[in-house]
Amino acid sequence: MSLLAIKGGKPVVEPGSIHPWPHITEEDKKAVMEALERATPWRYPFEEVLELERAWSEWTGMQYTLACNSGTAALHLCVVGCEIGPGDEVLVPADTFLASASCVLHSNGIPIFVDVHPLTYNIDPAKIEERITEKTKAIVAVDLHGLPADYDDIYPIAQQHGLKVIEDGAQAHGAVYKGRPVGALGDCSGCSLNGSKCLSALGEGGLFATNNARIYELAQRARMFGEIVEPGQPRQYNAYIMGWNYRTDPLQSAFARSQLRRLPQMTEWRIRNGTYLTQKLKEIPGIQPPFVPDDRTHVYFFYPILVRPEDLGLDEKYVEPFRETLATVMQAEGVPLRAWQTRPVPAQSLFQFRDGYGKGCPWSCPYTRSGIVYDPSEYPVATDVCRRRLVLGHSTDSFGPPNGLDLMEKYAEAFYKVLVENRATITEMTVAQTTS
Ligand SMILES: Cc1ncc(COP(=O)(O)O)c(C=O)c1O
Repeated sequence: MSLLAIKGGKPVVEPGSIHPWPHITEEDKKAVMEALERATPWRYPFEEVLELERAWSEWTGMQYTLACNSGTAALHLCVVGCEIGPGDEVLVPADTFLASASCVLHSNGIPIFVDVHPLTYNIDPAKIEERITEKTKAIVAVDLHGLPADYDDIYPIAQQHGLKVIEDGAQAHGAVYKGRPVGALGDCSGCSLNGSKCLSALGEGGLFATNNARIYELAQRARMFGEIVEPGQPRQYNAYIMGWNYRTDPLQSAFARSQLRRLPQMTEWRIRNGTYLTQKLKEIPGIQPPFVPDDRTHVYFFYPILVRPEDLGLDEKYVEPFRETLATVMQAEGVPLRAWQTRPVPAQSLFQFRDGYGKGCPWSCPYTRSGIVYDPSEYPVATDVCRRRLVLGHSTDSFGPPNGLDLMEKYAEAFYKVLVENRATITEMTVAQTTS
């Protein structure tokens, strides 16, 4: 039995063996330098931005793409495009990143949360219908951690109730659902290009896409101050609707365009790493690796692991102490295992106090249904996932290249060392943490 690094033993993963994300090549540098050469004078639109839009449309098969300056902006463009306004309700999974819900608030709409599925951690289609009211306009389906949501179960419900489906693909570029790519799975989609993402603009960025001309037209105006800008025509400086400045810039776009050329290889790499690690971790007690249904791929933006202290003979009250102990011990082994969100979105203060814009807006708005409260106990699965989740992946230690199977092998070795060879020690440490 080898001594845990936290007790003075040798770490399994040596410092410097994990590469950060994004993986930047000479090709990416050349693309950015060329964009820099062409960057003055400032103009709208930049060719690099249009080029990225064309390439994303080609990738997704969506007719219209708008590149913008964040994933949140892309999702808000979806909300505007779907004509969601004051008091309109939008269903959002209870376990996601805040922006999946706050994009609705940006248009004075009201997020209504739906619990998630215990295996996929995505919105549970079986729980959607009970949340629909006469105010409901859309469903945000999030491809959480890198796994597409259950679109074929979501769509019939949406169609029956006349709802739009907005895909939040921020964490899942490259993943496929029944042969269709992320970005093409909703009536419109918003993806992030933030530097941590599977497809990245290095800094910030986003991609909106749709096949619907009306949604596109509204989103296009919202991206540009509410104005209509005709290609080749002088700008009118006349806002038709409420708009924002969600435009993006040529350097970020050139970088993202260059990365998009390698998205197939990068995705293959991620899938190979994640699949390999799951094979190894399946046999280790105390943790539950991610589940991937046969009809879709997971691209492991995050590789989520749920802790199961019950497997080690510890009862349920030890979930959080075990999660923290395991993360600390694994980090000492050189594995950057850590918690991500530890509470469902509706448990965040914004929703508990319901004061988005001050004076209770938009919940106090006359168009909003009265009596909306967010009771975390209504989302038991999301709460449980948040309590138990530890993640690998993201920008410090992505599953994309050049991190490969040798690193996955080391991760698996570290889990084995901690949870099998040193099971008694980690159990004692967990209990000691609770009693200290
Ligand atoms: C699921 C999800 N939706 C939306 C966003 C927002 O993207 P951005 O940070 O680019 O605004 C993120 C980014 O972290 C995300 O993870």
